[in-house]
Amino acid sequence: MKTKRPRVKKASEMTLATKAIHGRKLYAFQGPVSPPIVQSSNYRFASSRDAIRYAEGDPDVYVYTRYHNPTVGEVEERLALMMNVEKALLFSSGMAAITSAILSVVKAGDEIISTPALYGGTYRFFRDILPRHNIAVRYVHPGALGQIVHTASSKTKLVYFETPTNPTVSIVDIKELVLATRKAEKKTGSKIVTMSDNTFASIINQDPFSFGVDIVVESATKYLGGHSDVMAGVVVGSKKFIRDVHTQLKYYGGCADPFAAYLMLRSLKTFELRVQRQNENALALAAFLEKQKNVNRVLYPGLRSHPHHAIAKQQMIGSGGKGYGSIVTVELKGGVKAAVKVCDSLRVAINAMSLGGVETLVSIPVYSSHINMTGKELKNHGVTPGMVRISVGVEGIEDLESDFAQALRRL
Ligand SMILES: Cc1ncc(COP(=O)(O)O)c(C=O)c1O
Repeated sequence: MKTKRPRVKKASEMTLATKAIHGRKLYAFQGPVSPPIVQSSNYRFASSRDAIRYAEGDPDVYVYTRYHNPTVGEVEERLALMMNVEKALLFSSGMAAITSAILSVVKAGDEIISTPALYGGTYRFFRDILPRHNIAVRYVHPGALGQIVHTASSKTKLVYFETPTNPTVSIVDIKELVLATRKAEKKTGSKIVTMSDNTFASIINQDPFSFGVDIVVESATKYLGGHSDVMAGVVVGSKKFIRDVHTQLKYYGGCADPFAAYLMLRSLKTFELRVQRQNENALALAAFLEKQKNVNRVLYPGLRSHPHHAIAKQQMIGSGGKGYGSIVTVELKGGVKAAVKVCDSLRVAINAMSLGGVETLVSIPVYSSHINMTGKELKNHGVTPGMVRISVGVEGIEDLESDFAQALRRL
């Protein structure tokens, strides 16, 4: 009798954690456990035949690291696998990824529709740089996404958004946004690309593709890197789209360095462990802070008191997500003075910008991401002077709770 051969799972069928650790290097693969860093700007041709193959468009001939690099390529393959999408491109920073992805969609004369609560860098790119290229951005409130249909015209080529947003961790309903964009396409008769900055959730907590989003961009400096030691960005989508973004990468030059790519591969091995612990710590710290004196409001999508908790639950946990992320924003009684006092009194949490790493960080939005914004702009972004944004790390939760308790007692 013939014994049935056990079915061997493919890399694409593995869980996110396994994909992040092993990528496609499963089973009988001969080589180092930790991949080598190909720290070379260029590549030798075995003979001019390779140069000719390259000139004829063969993508497998390595030429120059701004175009492609094996260590960078390994990260790209792994990220695409983790996000169940055809292709990923790694950049030198989140902003390099975001600007290249946007400029591969829009050209002079086109328009973008966005929601106003965006990462400060992206918002300023929209406000200060794109108008110089004759590209306009129109804003639609996340509570009225149906307005996308009315706002769209034949010039609209892109709908761009972030969720959860910075620093209020508000939620944009992705399903509703995609639906409104498809209706807008019917009205205008042309394709409108949807692009989501998934930095605040990451693929562990939210899968925008499951709602029909076309492109995901992300600052890999945050959760994907996770150790406050690497700058990187990523664009993920279909092969065809990524080919266009790669052209932008080649000419704007925002390629990732091989050493940064190596650090990313190291980081991905603990991606799920880290972010899961961050999710748990953030939920616990948010609930703890809600009970403290001198705290006006705690904003965290995992709290029932959060105005968008129901949508967050549906689109984060509902799309296979493991939690609500690590960003907790507190609004203190006593305005910006209180925010400064608390940030300067913390002993475990570090007063530093950025987010998503293993260390707990605090920052004051009006002095960091939202610096130099007018009162009207701050209002549109929902930012108040007494806010402190906390990026919760993986420390012991008891230590974090007692650190914040002692800092709040000083007010
Ligand atoms: C939501 C979001 N998107 C994009 C960026 C830009 O990423 P990078 O700093 O890696 O260029 C940041 C940086 O803080 C961010 O918070």
